[in-house]
Amino acid sequence: MSVPSLASSLSDSVTAAAAPLGLVDFAPQVRRSEHADFQADGMLAAARTLRRRPRDVAAEVVAALPAGNLVAAARVAGPGFVNLELTDRALLAQLADRLGDPRLGVGTAEADVTTVIDYSQPNIAKEMHVGHLRSTIIGDSLVRILEHLGGTVVRRNHIGDWGTQFGMLIQYRFEHPEPPATTGTATMRRLAALYRQARAAFDSDPAFAERARRRVVALQGGDPATLSAWRDIVAESTRYFTDVYDRLGVRLTGADAVGESAYNAALPDVAAELAQRGVAAVSDGALCVFFDDVRGPDGTPTPLIVRKRDGGFGYAATDLAALRQRVGDLHADRLLYVVDARQALHFRMVFDTARRAGWLPPTVPAVHVAFGTVLGPDGRPFKTRAGDTVRLVDLLTEAVDRARDVVAAKNPDLAGAALDQRARQVGIGAVKYADLATGRTRDYTYDPDRMLALAGNTGVYLQYAHARIRSILAKATGVEPVVDAEVALEPAERALILDLDAFADTLTEVVAGFEPHRLCGYLYRLAQTFTTFYERCPVLRADEPIRGNRLALCRLTGDTLRTGLELLGIEAPDQL
Ligand code: ARG
Repeated sequence: MSVPSLASSLSDSVTAAAAPLGLVDFAPQVRRSEHADFQADGMLAAARTLRRRPRDVAAEVVAALPAGNLVAAARVAGPGFVNLELTDRALLAQLADRLGDPRLGVGTAEADVTTVIDYSQPNIAKEMHVGHLRSTIIGDSLVRILEHLGGTVVRRNHIGDWGTQFGMLIQYRFEHPEPPATTGTATMRRLAALYRQARAAFDSDPAFAERARRRVVALQGGDPATLSAWRDIVAESTRYFTDVYDRLGVRLTGADAVGESAYNAALPDVAAELAQRGVAAVSDGALCVFFDDVRGPDGTPTPLIVRKRDGGFGYAATDLAALRQRVGDLHADRLLYVVDARQALHFRMVFDTARRAGWLPPTVPAVHVAFGTVLGPDGRPFKTRAGDTVRLVDLLTEAVDRARDVVAAKNPDLAGAALDQRARQVGIGAVKYADLATGRTRDYTYDPDRMLALAGNTGVYLQYAHARIRSILAKATGVEPVVDAEVALEPAERALILDLDAFADTLTEVVAGFEPHRLCGYLYRLAQTFTTFYERCPVLRADEPIRGNRLALCRLTGDTLRTGLELLGIEAPDQL
């Protein structure tokens, strides 16, 4: 069993104290406060129900709170809040319990929940761009957090592996054969070149365009040579994506890649079911779903097109088939789609269609976990000077190179493989943290200098904070941190215990809105609170039993920082 947070124990006490009021659904919110350790509200709502004065209700709750182990003082504050101070003993007992709890107080709220999460989703034969980076990083962090809370998570990398563009790619490759490239990156370069050349030929040479169109028909018809060429292109790209995932250290494998093509066989049935249930209707030759509230600028309704006039299926039909399968076969209790905010309308229409079709029961939430755009130094969507997509591998290489300089400056003795490893941990961590620390729907500017700064809300700052704590602990080898609950606490110690206590509740908040930046903010504050503590309270030079308590604080802070960083997908080495 994991240890409940002080906030939740307090909430229980306040609820018990309010029992004589005779309210059935009294639910106090207990939060940290600037005026006391915690503040409880809920008395205002209670007073309304009881038609009594809020401060009188609050006073009654205060009077009924048992003085003793947990609460040192309770006061009525403001219009009817209750300010609560905890005893030093309760704080230290919490520290001791937490120290012995490998889960750091985190429960298993997700234990019976299956989440299917769609993220990363690069496109075959195209370079991954920063949008795919965001999706991959945010998705990976959510996967880690949900799994840590005991949830079952099914990862779906919805790779763009189907579409008419494959006609020109395959045709061009047949006409210009090349031996295979050796590395993933070289393969990708070649595929990207193939894409450009095929596109140029398609646009400028009508005869080639015609051959490419026939090739699409051959692909859709399952012509063996064409299919095998398609498979090669998919495999080459996938190998490259896997390289990128390995470099990023994200938990996505080949088994998680279920591309758009995987749903091809289901598309006719999806269309038939929608038509039969009256959700979709033929308009202008296309099978469409209409929405009361989705209209174009001129007021005409904008449909979701399930089947095009030419009989072909597109992006929307595939998403509908995938959704139906994720709920129907994978038994998802929750669907997440980590996709660029610019696709909001698409997902609104897909989810609405699926609800109407009965594929998405009211009990299953479907969430577009939208994210903003990565901007370049000019404040516009991040592109190279030539206006091309910034290659993800170049970006990661640059981050790791710069991190190497930062690490080497701090550790002149570090060299070779050890330096490389730290550079990777710091560089990749910096990229991930910069992405995750911004509220996910906001745009942010990609700035390698800022994300590798040693001070401020950066991954490096947190990695250093963690490593510093490990080195303090290493100097105290042989001394087990033993908590003595009878010692009086300094304010900086109290503040640190209270911050540590909020870890589990922070993860609950992260999951409530699928917002990893809340975890980043928490870890940053924790590191700052630790710094204040360390400045004011000597650890190794303190006498027992104070030293034992302070070492315990160091240990728990180190463990919380490490676990928190791991949940963001960021490594926390013991030394930096
Ligand atoms: N491959 C698409 C793109 O690069 C994103 C796919 C998002 N996922 C989905 N189920 N539609 O824009």
